[in-house]
Amino acid sequence: MTQPIPIRRVPGQRPRLLDLFCCQGGAAKGYTDAGFDVTGVDLHPQPRYPYRFVQADAIAFVLTHGAGFDFIHASPPCQHDSECQRIQGNTHPDLIAPTRTALEATGRPWVIENVRGAVPKLRGPVMLCGPMFGVDTYRHRYFEPGGGFTLPQPEHPAHTVQQAKMGRPVPPGQYGQFVGNFSGVGLARRVMGVPWMNRDGIRECIPPAYTRWIGAAALPTAGLGVAA
Ligand SMILES: C[S@@+](CC[C@H](N)C(=O)[O-])C[C@H]1O[C@@H](n2cnc3c(N)ncnc32)[C@H](O)[C@@H]1O
Repeated sequence: MTQPIPIRRVPGQRPRLLDLFCCQGGAAKGYTDAGFDVTGVDLHPQPRYPYRFVQADAIAFVLTHGAGFDFIHASPPCQHDSECQRIQGNTHPDLIAPTRTALEATGRPWVIENVRGAVPKLRGPVMLCGPMFGVDTYRHRYFEPGGGFTLPQPEHPAHTVQQAKMGRPVPPGQYGQFVGNFSGVGLARRVMGVPWMNRDGIRECIPPAYTRWIGAAALPTAGLGVAA
């Protein structure tokens, strides 16, 4: 796909975003804030997901329905990367390449998101970190844009605040690392802006501020304003 694909906009309706591998909806919240109408897909029930939800295999769903959406986000679990396994502690198959193939088949613009351990599998990813958006945690997430959509790499502010030890309570003045069996669900909810999530969702989630920025970038790409 070499040409940007315009986001189709029906007057009076929000552009439609498909949120694949949605979990409890960190990415979804940011896209909603940016002006998209979001539909989430996850293999497992997600009763905390705040938006329209379909329980299904993400790749099967996008191959059948993806072309009907204006923009597609995918957060496939990764494997074969020591960091992914450490963070997710699971036995998911590696779905990054099959997800990309399925996204390319839709003809729509998209991003694939993942963690640092998956960077060798991502093509030209943009790295986002909390302080780029006023979020007080050093949570790095990598976003590969595709289908004609591009993203600039924001400047990465230096990490100047001490990080609390993993799994320990976060002392005042330090930043938490909300991964694994972290301590401080209430703090994590406030810091990342995900008050509806439990620990399982928080440890997996993208801070919504990141995808609000991506969503805001997607709409002008198509020469369109943010929906009211
Ligand atoms: C890293 S989490 C996504 C986090 C989410 N983007 C957020 O910001 O909150 C990955 C999710 O993929 C789901 N998943 C794993 N395999 C799947 C599949 N084949 N189809 C759909 N969802 C799947 C898992 O249940 C999990 O909820």
